[in-house]
Amino acid sequence: MFTAYLNTLSVLEIVDSVQKDGFFYCETALTSSYVDRVLADINFESILVNHNDVGVAISGTQRFLTHCLAKSKLSYDLITSRKVLDICNAYFTDRYQLTNHRFCQTRRQFHMPWHTDNNLQNASQLCGKHSMPGLLFLFYLSEQNRSPFQLIKNSHRWSHYYAQEIYLSDRWVETHHRQDVLTFNMQKGSLMICDIHAIHRAAPFCDREHTRNILLFQVDQVGDRYIGHGEQNLVNTAFIDNLSPELSSYLGFGTRRDYPAFPNSSVATLDIPDLLQLQQQLLPLMLKAIAKSLLKTLLPGEHLVGLKRLLWNLKSSTRPQ
Ligand SMILES: [Fe+2]
Repeated sequence: MFTAYLNTLSVLEIVDSVQKDGFFYCETALTSSYVDRVLADINFESILVNHNDVGVAISGTQRFLTHCLAKSKLSYDLITSRKVLDICNAYFTDRYQLTNHRFCQTRRQFHMPWHTDNNLQNASQLCGKHSMPGLLFLFYLSEQNRSPFQLIKNSHRWSHYYAQEIYLSDRWVETHHRQDVLTFNMQKGSLMICDIHAIHRAAPFCDREHTRNILLFQVDQVGDRYIGHGEQNLVNTAFIDNLSPELSSYLGFGTRRDYPAFPNSSVATLDIPDLLQLQQQLLPLMLKAIAKSLLKTLLPGEHLVGLKRLLWNLKSSTRPQ
């Protein structure tokens, strides 16, 4: 999973960098084969419409697999890895928890505003900023990067002065902090760990051919003050082969979580090309459903059961013994 290079770095080096600079950056953190395998766990083409499962949801030009701890063992192994827990143990001074996590695929275009990640929510709505320490772990999974990660140097030290703002405008940053903007041309397998109070964004892009895949998760020092802070964690029990009190606390077993999964999606959040594609898929299904419904209306229930038995027997006779 992790490269030999990342494994040579000590946890203290990583944590020192975050404490001093507000971030730690490693260009080659994940092996290429791990990235390929973890991406194969997700089918970004298949979206959930009346599927009784967890899967991909669309919001505008972005696709999300929010419940990766329920869907991808490889991402579970990364998010709960010893390396991540050791970094958290060294960084935090009180009880910490995984507060959100997701795969995110951005297509065609996107304009992310400058922001911090120390958000408080009322259900799915942002309602303010908090002062808890927290870490954002962000892994780039795409081959190319036309939308680098950007961060304003030392902003983790002063962003609280702007706690009443949901976002900061591009113009304000350009006017006051142009010289402080750090740009990271992240590659496939790169890792950024940053203080959630640092002002950051993904640089905007407009390229119909470009697709950006990332895996991100956030850990906050929830302590005892912020009961209910964090998104609901759905974990596949088959993945849990290493449950310990430490891991149980990190994943929030038995802990109240008040925020729904991000994004708050529905058919209404589909972009026009995706909406049209969905219509194409729905039309034949609708015709099939009408034919089925017609058959059910015209045939008495007893005849339907007889028909099902006939089909079953036909299949049985052709099945190899
Ligand atoms: Fe962010």
